[in-house]
Amino acid sequence: MNAVGSTAKSAPLLEVSEIMLSYGKGAVGVSDVSLSVDEGQVVALIGPNGAGKTSTVRAISGFLPIEGAKVSRGRVRFDGHDVTNGLPHTLARRGIAFVPERMKIFPNLSVRENLLSVGHLPGRAERTARERRVADLFPELAERGRELAGRLSGGQRQMLALGRAIMSNPRLLIVDEMSLGLHHSLQPRLFRAVRDLARTGAAVILVDESTGLNLDVADYCYVLGNGMVRAAGEPDQLRKGDLISDVYLEG
Ligand SMILES: Nc1ncnc2c1ncn2[C@@H]1O[C@H](COP(=O)(O)OP(=O)(O)OP(=O)(O)O)[C@@H](O)[C@H]1O
Ligand SMILES: [Mg+2]
Repeated sequence: MNAVGSTAKSAPLLEVSEIMLSYGKGAVGVSDVSLSVDEGQVVALIGPNGAGKTSTVRAISGFLPIEGAKVSRGRVRFDGHDVTNGLPHTLARRGIAFVPERMKIFPNLSVRENLLSVGHLPGRAERTARERRVADLFPELAERGRELAGRLSGGQRQMLALGRAIMSNPRLLIVDEMSLGLHHSLQPRLFRAVRDLARTGAAVILVDESTGLNLDVADYCYVLGNGMVRAAGEPDQLRKGDLISDVYLEG
């Protein structure tokens, strides 16, 4: 369900229009991707290996892996502003939180220090409220707050990466391959946490190569293949046909 509702539809929070992401020296991450995400909406971005999923969210978040990489065509609009080729910290300040694949945590800081290591923390009351929100979602993080993050299990590290993103109270949360390498028993909690965040009005993009719980929690889904959007629709609609498997088979 789209929290924006069915009446008087406002502009989407995020609007990606016909972008090409170039890595330089002729390497192209995506050649033509358009998508939009509303407030309170969970969007799944799926597609086979090398389809351009990570490139798309790099273009949105500004986290480009190499110098010279840039959006060379099209534009990205966020909250009414043109943010094409924006710098990561500028985009973070606007409310875009990006949890990259193989989560970035600081192993030599404590769990709590990791949670507080987001760029712009608010005053104490709001900070405490956000810490409580994370503790409600992932009690083990609160229990192990003083321990070094490097001692956490893989699943707990992913919780920490997500918790840290939630501490920044994002307007748009992007998680690349959230369930990769995670024991399946942990996955429902992480996806539920994402769904809960969307209920508070945040927009979410979940990037995954595989389909599963991501499609269960998503309101809308884009299927990428060969650097382009090959199919889009509500997950149930997409699941009915052969569209998804066709795109995966073509690679
Ligand atoms: N740093 C880079 N330099 C040059 N080309 C790159 C770079 N990163 C990705 N690419 C290319 O961009 C294209 C899309 O890759 P991308 O990582 O975005 O796909 P993906 O859908 O996230 O795949 P995966 O399922 O493997 O994560 C591929 O052809 C890839 O080789
Ligand atoms: Mg990827």
